[in-house]
Formats: sequence, structure tokens, C-alpha cells
Amino acid sequence: MSSPFSLQADQGAGPLMRDSAPGPCVALLFGITGDLSQRKLVPALFHLESTGALPENFAVVGLSRSAGDVEALRRKLGEALERHSPNAPVDRAAWERFSARITGVSGNLEESETYERLGAHLSEVDQARGTLGNRLIYLSTPPSAFPTALTQLKQAGIVRHAVEAGSELPWTRVVIEKPFGHDLASARTLNQQALEVLGEEHIYRIDHYLGKETVQNIFVMRFGNAIFEPLWNRQHIDHVQITMAETIGVVGRGRFYEETGVLRDIVQNHLLQVLALCAMEPPVSFEADEIRNMKAQVLRSLRPMPNGSEEGSIVWGQYEGYRAEDGVAKNSKTPTFVAMRAHIDNWRWNGVPFYLRAGKALKSRVTEVSFHFKSIPFCLFGDEQTCQMIDPNVLKLRIQPNEGISMQIACKVPGEDLSIGGVTMDFQYEGAFGRKPPEAYERLLLDCMRGDATLFARRDEVEYSWAFSSQIQEALERGGNEPEVYARGSEGPGAARELLRRDGRSWVNLG
Ligand SMILES: NC(=O)c1ccc[n+]([C@@H]2O[C@H](COP(=O)([O-])OP(=O)(O)OC[C@H]3O[C@@H](n4cnc5c(N)ncnc54)[C@H](OP(=O)(O)O)[C@@H]3O)[C@@H](O)[C@H]2O)c1
Repeated sequence: MSSPFSLQADQGAGPLMRDSAPGPCVALLFGITGDLSQRKLVPALFHLESTGALPENFAVVGLSRSAGDVEALRRKLGEALERHSPNAPVDRAAWERFSARITGVSGNLEESETYERLGAHLSEVDQARGTLGNRLIYLSTPPSAFPTALTQLKQAGIVRHAVEAGSELPWTRVVIEKPFGHDLASARTLNQQALEVLGEEHIYRIDHYLGKETVQNIFVMRFGNAIFEPLWNRQHIDHVQITMAETIGVVGRGRFYEETGVLRDIVQNHLLQVLALCAMEPPVSFEADEIRNMKAQVLRSLRPMPNGSEEGSIVWGQYEGYRAEDGVAKNSKTPTFVAMRAHIDNWRWNGVPFYLRAGKALKSRVTEVSFHFKSIPFCLFGDEQTCQMIDPNVLKLRIQPNEGISMQIACKVPGEDLSIGGVTMDFQYEGAFGRKPPEAYERLLLDCMRGDATLFARRDEVEYSWAFSSQIQEALERGGNEPEVYARGSEGPGAARELLRRDGRSWVNLG
């Protein structure tokens, strides 16, 4: 399989471009009337249509209990698109063209009869649209329905084993949404169920964070520049911080969040995927499996923390007012915030703490990784005290919002004295390239159509990250710890500040 990246030939070191256009196919969206489809999937496909990225022979088939009336379905999706495109008017002509590609099948995914009708409908679409039997099947349903949908799809002959690139046979790829299980045991079971139906190469476990341009840029920054990699290790880096902060609370999804909590919602998937990209060894090539091998090694090397809270390396928090949210138990102990000191037990990172922090209802919305370099080794500027005033270098990768990279360096303050201050070199995506990075789902849907699984999680990655997270979750539940209550709009619980203070460090301010 080819690399997911290539340079645009006429631009030298210009922007990274997608390489190949996808071939004919049907995108079969299970749960087309749901929130994710309306807010993200259909708008992403529509945008790909508007930019000419979709193949000519392409169709969308939706399945849900209420997807049957095609005109009503198109209208509903069109209205949702308008609602979710507040800053730019929807190109009506493009929508008419795109919506003509959408049809739906109404049915309960638990019932085999639904799949008989679905199979017949897909054959008709193949005839009408020239989609050659190629299927991108997206399971955007409640997670409890994933195993049934997979089994029924196989029994009805809609998914088939085999089918590989270069083969004349049609292909089938199945995208499985998060959460992929709710602990290690259930993730293993779901993997087994999926692998009874499909080969690993046809299973696309989606984590939309990996589709973000800034997350992909972690690869490019590390391995497309000669200056960073020599410094990327325990000799030069003092510690790393990864923050995923939201300003919103659970906004009506209290019942869901009670089952999930911050560890399952953010840490097990998004945060550990970003950590793996930041900490992995250089792959031998940019092939999907080479990159995934390197990421899996990092996740496997995470030091277990079976009793994290007692050791003082994990802090749990819950925002003030969480227990009054709809669907939340009055005595809920579900954490909406976590901060921890994690370690990667390998040569490169031995002794370098990775401080991880995620939470809701915080001061600002920010996803950011910062690499804090060691202090200068020898003082040339006056006395030791002056040199201690020099802040160590910090390299920040801002994943959202204001996507970009900044580097904090020491500089002489203008004047007759030798006075030293910190300045920041700042690169912002939007300013540099004149446009905002595209939506993650566009990239991921297109990659799936092209059969490029680089930005999707492999079985072992998912299981290693669950192995790390599940034992922490179990310790939390066993210990019955009360999370510390923190004020909405704050930086989180005081104990999180204390965690770093004890180590002689401090968190990067939240906005
Ligand atoms: N929403 C997000 O922002 C988001 C983000 C990340 C991951 N996800 C994941 O994406 C998946 C979908 O989430 P969502 O928020 O879109 O859920 P949702 O709004 O509840 O939508 C669920 C969809 O599944 C259909 N459905 C449910 N039961 C069905 C059945 N028995 N037979 C046929 N269709 C059925 C529903 O349609 P009918 O009721 O008409 O049948 C609806 O179209 C979940 O796994 C979720 O964890 C969502």
C-alpha cells in the first residue's frame, strides 16, 4: 500500500497532498438519522463532493428505523447541514447533486429481514450508480449494536472475507465508531467478534483525533525535520504535558457520561493516541502497519498504575454542579477530570514523566502537547541566580483551537544590561497556509475509501490502551475515591497543581 502522504510535485517543500483518488463505492451509513451522521459524516461527504474528491460512481445508503422515506431523509440531512454550517452558506447546486446520491433503507438492525432488503437495495444501487459492489460500511449506531450488525451483515452476505487491494473482487471495509469496548475484556470480545466477520485489514477503528491535520503534523514535524529528532529523548527533555480541556460540561448527555467518565471518554482513546504519536520510534517507512507497530510499542511500554491514586500519581476531579445534571446520580463519583503522571518504560523515555490532563467545564477549550526541555547545563550569564531565571525551552503543539506550533526560547532583552527574557516563536496553520485545516472526518472517510488504514487504530493498539486504562479505572472503582470538586471555568482541582508542584514543575496555563 502506498504512503498516505506525498509532496505536491510542483511545489517543492509545499503542502502535503493526498495521493490517490478513491474508486467507485457505496458508503453505507448505519444510523444515518443519528447525531454523528447529521453533524459530521454527511457534511464531511458533502464537502468532499463539493471539492471534487469523491468518485463519480459513488452513492450513500442510509440505514435506520426511520430512514425509509427518501425525500424526508434528504430534507432532514439538508436541514442538518444548514444548521451545522453557520459560517458559510451551503452551495445549493452541490447539495442537489450530492443529495441525489442518497437513498435509505428503513429497518431494525436487530432483524435479519432488514439485511435481506438492504442487500437487495445495495444491488440496485450498484446497478444504477456503477459502484461495483465496493462498500464502506460505517457503524454509527449505539455501540451495543456493533456485534449484531457485524454478524447480520455477514450472514446476509453483505460483508465478505478476503477482498484485497489489486484484487478484481469488490472490497468491504467497516468503520467502527468509538467507544471500542468499555474495558479491556469487552474490547477483546468486540475484536474477536469483528475478526470472525472480517480480516483485520478490513476493520477501521476510528478515532477522529487521528484525522486532525495537527495530529498528523506530529509525524511530519518529527520526521520531516532534522533538528527535532536528536533532541527527542530523555537526555534533552525534562517532561511532557498533554492536555485535553473542554469548557462545556455534559450538556444533556449525563446518562451516557455516568457510564463513561473522563478516562473512557478521552484518555483511553484520543489522549493515548496522541501520546503514542509523540513518543514512538521512527518507523522504517510511512506504511500503515509500520506506523502502527511503533505506536503499539509505546502503548505497550506504558508503566501500569494499578494503585495510582494511592501512589499520588493520579488526581480525579468532578466539576461543581455535575451531580445536578440530567441523568446524573445525586451521589455520583464519576470523574469529569483526571490528571496523572505516566511513564513510558523504554530506553528513549526512561525517567521522563508524561503528565496527562483531561477534563470538562474547565477554563478554556484546548488540546495541546508541550515538550519541556531541560535547563541549560552551564551558566554563562552572571551568577547562578540569573541563570535560574531563564525559563527552559518549551515546544508546544497546539492541536485545537488555533492550530499551530510554538517554541519558547530565551532572548536578550534590548538595553545596555545583559537581561534575559523568554520569547515565543509562533506558527499558526491558518495564517501560514491561508485556510483552516479540513475536518477530520473528511480525511478519514477518504482514507477508508482508498484503503489506507494508517490513521485508524489496530487491534493491538486498542487492547494495549485499554490494558493501561482499565486497571486505573478498576482501581478507581475499587477504592471508591471521591473526586475533588472543582469550580466550573477553573483550571481543575487543586490536587492537580499539587501533583506537579511536588515534582518541582507546573502545568502550562489553560488559555
Ligand atoms: N455524536 C457524536 O458526536 C459522536 C462522537 C464520537 C462517537 N460517536 C459514536 O457514534 C455512534 C453514533 O452516535 P450518535 O450520537 O449519532 O447516536 P444517535 O444520535 O443515538 O444515533 C443512533 C442512530 O442509530 C440508529 N439506530 C439505533 N438503534 C437502531 C436499531 N435498532 N435499528 C436501526 N437503527 C438504529 C438511530 O436511528 P433510528 O432511531 O431512527 O433507528 C440513529 O440513526 C455511537 O457509537 C457513538 O458512541 C458519536
